[in-house]
Amino acid sequence: MYRKKLIILFSGNGSNMENLIQKLHKKIFSIKGIQTQIDILACICNKKEAYGITRAKKLGIKCIVLPHHLFDKREDFDNALAKIIQDLNADLVVLAGFMRILTPSFTHQFKIINIHPSLLPKYKGTNAIKDSFFSKDKEVGVSVHWVNEELDSGALILQEKFTRMQEETLESFSNKIHQLEYEIYPKAVIMALEAMEKIWKK
Ligand code: GRF
Repeated sequence: MYRKKLIILFSGNGSNMENLIQKLHKKIFSIKGIQTQIDILACICNKKEAYGITRAKKLGIKCIVLPHHLFDKREDFDNALAKIIQDLNADLVVLAGFMRILTPSFTHQFKIINIHPSLLPKYKGTNAIKDSFFSKDKEVGVSVHWVNEELDSGALILQEKFTRMQEETLESFSNKIHQLEYEIYPKAVIMALEAMEKIWKK
């Protein structure tokens, strides 16, 4: 059986992380025509109070807490993070609400993907849902992209949109965005794995 090993990084609520674990972990997919099992090796969180830690534990997935405030420099945190990922020998790093900008030395070392709650390149940054909501855009949506050294700027893997309703609260709008995230992120992970050239046999 071929295997692909994933690490998920998150900072807070962790609902995308939970959804990815439920839909992908220990499941078998056809990747480039080869039956491949996905293993989520661990989650890594940079905030010790994050609710996602409880979610990961409930699902029986190891959760490593690496608080960024313990490091003086951004590079030092990224190096510690990189060491953990190298030791686990992950094929793909999946960001799911990981609220840190990663240094180029980190982004160049790994294949990394991210989900963002807007139709990139529109509304980069942390206020994407509000920015979309308060915009006059008729169509809104979510994006999954490769991660490079620039915030929310790597090549797109998958994007899905929906047409806004006239009467909508920020809460119901946010819920729709999150539901769409849960739909597309697992699909985009498979697409990313398909796009990666090598398949490792384990
Ligand atoms: C999601 O909206 C994701 O697109 C963004 O951060 C949010 C994380 O939510 N990058 P959760 O922690 O997965 O619930």
